[in-house]
Amino acid sequence: MKQIETLIRALPKTELHLHIEGTLEPEMLFQLARRNNITLPYEDVAAVRAAYDFTNLQSFLDIYYAGASVLVTEEDFFELTLAYLAKCAADRVVHTELFFDPQSHTSRGIPFATVLSGIRRAMAVGKERFGISSKLIMSFLRHLPEEDGFKTLDDARPFLALIDGVGLDSSEMGHPPADFQRLFAMCRALGLRRVAHAGEEGPAAYICEALDMLDVCRIDHGVRAIEDDSLLERLAKERLPLTVCPFSNVRLKVFASLAGHNLRRLLQRGVCVTVNSDDPAYFGGYLQDNLLGVARELGLSADEIVTLVKNGFEASWLDEAEKTHWLGVCDTIAGEGNHGRIHEGRG
Ligand code: ADE
Ligand code: ZN
Repeated sequence: MKQIETLIRALPKTELHLHIEGTLEPEMLFQLARRNNITLPYEDVAAVRAAYDFTNLQSFLDIYYAGASVLVTEEDFFELTLAYLAKCAADRVVHTELFFDPQSHTSRGIPFATVLSGIRRAMAVGKERFGISSKLIMSFLRHLPEEDGFKTLDDARPFLALIDGVGLDSSEMGHPPADFQRLFAMCRALGLRRVAHAGEEGPAAYICEALDMLDVCRIDHGVRAIEDDSLLERLAKERLPLTVCPFSNVRLKVFASLAGHNLRRLLQRGVCVTVNSDDPAYFGGYLQDNLLGVARELGLSADEIVTLVKNGFEASWLDEAEKTHWLGVCDTIAGEGNHGRIHEGRG
């Protein structure tokens, strides 16, 4: 395990499934609440952490949206995003594609431009200070009507050059991708890339819908694809990536334990699986913690780790030259020292 751990720390990594509002650590939650004169229903940081005991996706979302209400000013969004990028730098995450949920802010009267400019300013500083490249994905909340999504897209119109793609998140059950077909068609016409959460709690059929009706290029989560053999074959054949979030899946009771996670089985079926943290402040760890966790609990080999990390670059929206560069760095590191014998399994 020691050698695998060294390998995980040394490899350059991507993160492709990260909600910036989900990086709000309890300490910052209190700091921003104080600064913005917002009363929290918690006594202290320990009480906050105790409340993060989720039974399913909805029980998490209720707390997550309440937490996001301390984000008010451009500076708040800037500080939140920069703190996440500093964490990326410490963990050798060299490229990240982050979601933001504009509707959870505009519904509270925060202007779209305030949210966007705070996040974008931090992304620029992240590039300058840490050398981290990043993309921004505007995610629509699926528990709200498609009409609301159209209003958000209108808000975004003056800023489309600053938005790299769109996503679909929030409560999955009862809110199928089909409900957002017109909205995603418009996003496509505007030249925006598309991704969608599907098959986290919802059935494999939602993954097929997201591919066929929303024309997405990646599926966020997608772990329930394991229930549909023909879908698995399609994902593998077309190299349609899944952005899997192991800690999230365990904390939201999609799997009982990390050891019971199906990530390795998905890999073995030839699917382009990537590892991500989703909402690290709520789920107990950032991207590197997730990789270390699955390596330990599933006994992943160095080969499998390198595949997962390289899949992240392949599935990213980096251009071909950048992908080639980073894939080459991964191969060099994988071939160095003890990691050269990358068939050793548990170290
Ligand atoms: N929003 C933030 N995290 C999410 C998740 N895991 N699923 C759906 N919506 C989310
Ligand atoms: Zn997510």
